[in-house]
Amino acid sequence: MPRFIVQGGNPLHGRIKINGAKNAVLPMMAAAVLTESECVIKDVPDIRDVRVMVRILRDIGVEVELEDVNGQRHLSLKAEQIRTDTIPAELMREMRSSVLLIGPMLARLGSACMTHPGGCAIGLRPIDMHLNGFRKLNARIERYRDEVRVLASEEGLLGTDIHLEYPSVGATENAMMAATLAQGVTRIWNPAREPEIDNLAEFLRLMGSRIWGTGTDVITVEGREKLGGAECTVIPDRIEAGTFAVAAAITGGEVELENVCPSHMRAFISKMCEVGVRIIRLEDGSLRVQSPSRPRAADLRTLPYPGFPTDLQNQYLAMACAADGTSVITETIFENRFKVAEEFVRMGALIRTEGRLAVVKGVPTLSGTRVKANEDLRGAASLILAGLRAEGTTEVQGADPVDRGYMDFAGRLQKLGACISRQD
Ligand code: UD1
Repeated sequence: MPRFIVQGGNPLHGRIKINGAKNAVLPMMAAAVLTESECVIKDVPDIRDVRVMVRILRDIGVEVELEDVNGQRHLSLKAEQIRTDTIPAELMREMRSSVLLIGPMLARLGSACMTHPGGCAIGLRPIDMHLNGFRKLNARIERYRDEVRVLASEEGLLGTDIHLEYPSVGATENAMMAATLAQGVTRIWNPAREPEIDNLAEFLRLMGSRIWGTGTDVITVEGREKLGGAECTVIPDRIEAGTFAVAAAITGGEVELENVCPSHMRAFISKMCEVGVRIIRLEDGSLRVQSPSRPRAADLRTLPYPGFPTDLQNQYLAMACAADGTSVITETIFENRFKVAEEFVRMGALIRTEGRLAVVKGVPTLSGTRVKANEDLRGAASLILAGLRAEGTTEVQGADPVDRGYMDFAGRLQKLGACISRQD
């Protein structure tokens, strides 16, 4: 099991380039299944979730090629022929986001089959809203043990009104993608408003879809008989940018983030300012993160976009452990996202959790020790961040989930002056 050895205490300094967003590229890769023509996705991050998605796409018959163009990774995808409507169970297990292929496969082939993705470290993560959307679009759902099969009826998918009980990111994306090849108009009410959904809509529009209303209360999709190829660039990863910003803040350092979109990070930036971290926009569009030696405490509540992202909650929690004062953190999106708190406590943090609430009394020093990451990518990254602050050596065991969402996390932290090594 890979582990990271972190020697804490070095304030981070330097400049780092942020990659394309994991949560944007995965739905875009799935959307390439909607057309038999070639699609090119630019600025694709070199992370494990992308590699798993490539394996799944190749497995179902999509031709996938990766090319380096002036230091940027481009992915070309051609789904001329899809050989199966079934996503293999073992790959489904490796990555929950493979559920995003169901909408495009259903729209293109008339059926899609997968094993239920099940729960994960951060919560139950049901897919009922995804399935309800397909049902509304005139598909039927069949279940056998943990297998879920979604089948379009004889007349195909029909445009409809879909009301989401909750602005689920994945359910919005799946409904949007399936609706692009449905007959007639689909309206998705109460959709998620995340920037990654905008990026997906942009890609779908370039493929010939008619979609409007992303970022508002209702997304409208006018179905088309066929879609064509397209080229589109992935937006910068706001969660990766936030993680490196916290790395700077938790060590009292100063780091410049290149390739960021500050308008996607308003809630995060505002919270960082509240805790005393200065975020300065530079002329070239980069962000300079300047931190005091010890950030102040401030309460936090995660919310769907444009609220504070749940995917940055654990990193904020790591910072709150060492902040000056007490922070109350409320997690409203996933029911099990404070698991990492136990490990912070082993490092000397004072945290009390109750359900979706964590009360954190900041301590001046955390102590390095051996901690264990569970199967959660952001939790694993947060333990490494806490290790950067701690006195002495922190050994983060089982931290390989960071590879799912961060390219060479240890190497890039090292370039900023962190004392970190990885042992596989
Ligand atoms: C996406 C992101 C993930 C992020 C999350 C919330 C990707 C690949 N992943 O995940 O990094 O943490 O948004 O911003 O983009 N829910 C249901 N039924 C459903 C679907 C969701 O009850 O059918 C619940 C979930 O359990 C959760 C909440 O809705 O409590 C939000 O989930 P959702 O927005 O769907 O997250 P994902 O799309 O899975």
